[in-house]
Amino acid sequence: MWHFYCPNITYGEDALNFIEKIKGEKCFIVTDKVVEELGYLKILTDKLDNFGKKYTVFTDVIPDPHEEDVIKGKEKCIDYAPDLIIALGGGSVIDTAKAIWVMYEYPDYNLDNINPFDEKLYDFANKAKMIAIPTTSGTGSEATWAAIISRFQDGAWRKMSLPHMSLVPTYAIVDPIFPKGMPPALTVNTAFDALAHAIEAYISSWRNEFCNALGIKAIELIFKYLPIAYKDGNNMEARDFLHQASTMAGLAFSNSQLHIGHAMGHSLAAVFPIPHGQTVGLFLKYITQYCLNDPGEINESIEVYSTLAKKLGWAKWDYPPKKASYIVVEKINELQDKVDFIKNIKDLGITQEDFNNNLNKLIGLCYQDPSSVMAPRTPNKEEFTKLYTYAYEGKDIDF
Ligand SMILES: [Fe+2]
Repeated sequence: MWHFYCPNITYGEDALNFIEKIKGEKCFIVTDKVVEELGYLKILTDKLDNFGKKYTVFTDVIPDPHEEDVIKGKEKCIDYAPDLIIALGGGSVIDTAKAIWVMYEYPDYNLDNINPFDEKLYDFANKAKMIAIPTTSGTGSEATWAAIISRFQDGAWRKMSLPHMSLVPTYAIVDPIFPKGMPPALTVNTAFDALAHAIEAYISSWRNEFCNALGIKAIELIFKYLPIAYKDGNNMEARDFLHQASTMAGLAFSNSQLHIGHAMGHSLAAVFPIPHGQTVGLFLKYITQYCLNDPGEINESIEVYSTLAKKLGWAKWDYPPKKASYIVVEKINELQDKVDFIKNIKDLGITQEDFNNNLNKLIGLCYQDPSSVMAPRTPNKEEFTKLYTYAYEGKDIDF
């Protein structure tokens, strides 16, 4: 038996109008100051005014949200007593809204109660339904059953991954009006996050047919439309399909999980101030090579990547699996070139000294990251060291 969890999804231009049809009159909007300044909040509140829905706004979400922000939001939410919680923003906003939602439903809960084994949480959404409206095309949080919230513990910030099936938003509204305004660099970084979700989900040891179908479509759409959106951010066809691809990739990884590209990316971003999409996009090529080079008796990665390359039309059906599988690496490289993506850690401006001083910390963080568990090939300490070192220099993985 397996499960597939997903929200009710409305997508495409004017998708925002679907809010009128959603039952609920009192909305608690969770967002951040940037979304407000960009005028996106007004787009939403104008709609709510037109639809005769009441609302209050919580704009205090910060990037990499802290537990304290969730508590503040929870108190405001309980005071307002909404029947709809609307998250408008990127992954940080949507994750904060999910955690607020849990604590609104169960005021005696704290973050430690959010785990997949909590039976009580399956009786959920009795006070409010949740609508997630992503403003970027990358995190896929509108489609996933986890929230990432940071807690200060033992003298350092620790990112807590809080998973429970009930945290899948009730509705995802995937309207390209919001990502339309993203500048080229943000467009590329967020799209590479979505691409990493799709490819890692496709090869994860929890991969399954539902996720494969969504992952492969997301990969196809990102390869087709990212170069277009990078050159012309106003191309609404490209924005629409990238936004859809991001949600598809979210569904794929939420239901099959990620692996070492995200573990390495989370760790790098925890030590150096680098956007998430840039880190996981950077590691994508290296971890693909690493999986393909698996010297074990059974190397499933070659077969899986080979099928991927053939289904996407990158390799002919009669190509031997090894030849076809390595085409995935070439394609990642080509896409990175097309959109001027930084391909090694050195070019991110991290000095050799800084890198060396933090290498052990990076590896330690990888082992604490739950994403590492679902890798088709799991690096030992020496291999993690080499993976980071090769990625620093931009060297192809030869082990
Ligand atoms: Fe990600």
